[in-house]
Amino acid sequence: MSRGTIVITGASSGLGAEMARQFAALGYDLGLCARRTERLDELRTEILAAHPERVVAVKQLDVTDDAAVFTVFDAFAAEFGGIDRVIVNAGLGKGAPLGTGKHAANRETAVVNFLAALAQTEAAMSIFRAQGRGHLVMISSISGLRGMPKTLTTYAATKAGVAALAEGLRAEAVPGVDVSVIYPGYIRSEMNDRIKHEPKFMVDTETGVRAMVAAIEKRRAKAYVPDWPWIPIGFALRTLPLPLVRKLL
Ligand SMILES: NC(=O)c1ccc[n+]([C@@H]2O[C@H](COP(=O)([O-])OP(=O)(O)OC[C@H]3O[C@@H](n4cnc5c(N)ncnc54)[C@H](OP(=O)(O)O)[C@@H]3O)[C@@H](O)[C@H]2O)c1
Repeated sequence: MSRGTIVITGASSGLGAEMARQFAALGYDLGLCARRTERLDELRTEILAAHPERVVAVKQLDVTDDAAVFTVFDAFAAEFGGIDRVIVNAGLGKGAPLGTGKHAANRETAVVNFLAALAQTEAAMSIFRAQGRGHLVMISSISGLRGMPKTLTTYAATKAGVAALAEGLRAEAVPGVDVSVIYPGYIRSEMNDRIKHEPKFMVDTETGVRAMVAAIEKRRAKAYVPDWPWIPIGFALRTLPLPLVRKLL
């Protein structure tokens, strides 16, 4: 028996792929999308080998193609007869200090992490409003809690932006629709595996995603994950003066 259907964007690597594995193990059917379909096909084969009773559909999607986002989400909804949860996860970690000639990298991050997240939210909410139910999950970041310096400036702004979108929807209180914002700390993935010095408190993908999945399953409105050390760091980030904030991440 299926516990429901979850659509995950950015499922070809890192947190998205691991969420797919862990939600399949919990009994959910999956609609997975990303640009690298060979990765999605491999993941589908791996999940079905472990859980042959599950249904896993994969579709190619570049989330910066607005029309494709609506088409792909609607196609998953038609295929599964509805969608119970959408996880807006696709993201990019490029960035450079503002005004240093790297506008293209900052723009790309803003487009993928914010504008494309907006399109995904519109597409998901249109399905949820029609169904009268659904769970929207926005993957933000601990770095979205405050303005961040240098290479993180644009990335952090996009992550604050998506959290604000989700909070706006929570304020609207759409009948039958729950909205969760997940603020991961450092979790090993493709996004950070080229960083020379491993950040403090980095956890492996499985451990980090286990904390994300637990918070999502509880439909928490906000979750800093894993709890330790990110709940106290999150509190400090929101309250300390900027010169101290700079030293925390
Ligand atoms: N890892 C961390 O420590 C951490 C911390 C806080 C927040 N996050 C957030 O967690 C989310 C997942 O990141 P990750 O760490 O798992 O990084 P990752 O391993 O680099 O995965 C990023 C995913 O996003 C997809 N993606 C990127 N651009 C896309 C596009 N234009 N269209 C469709 N899919 C696209 C990639 O798929 P394709 O390249 O195949 O399209 C990939 O599946 C991101 O939103 C990130 O900001 C991560």
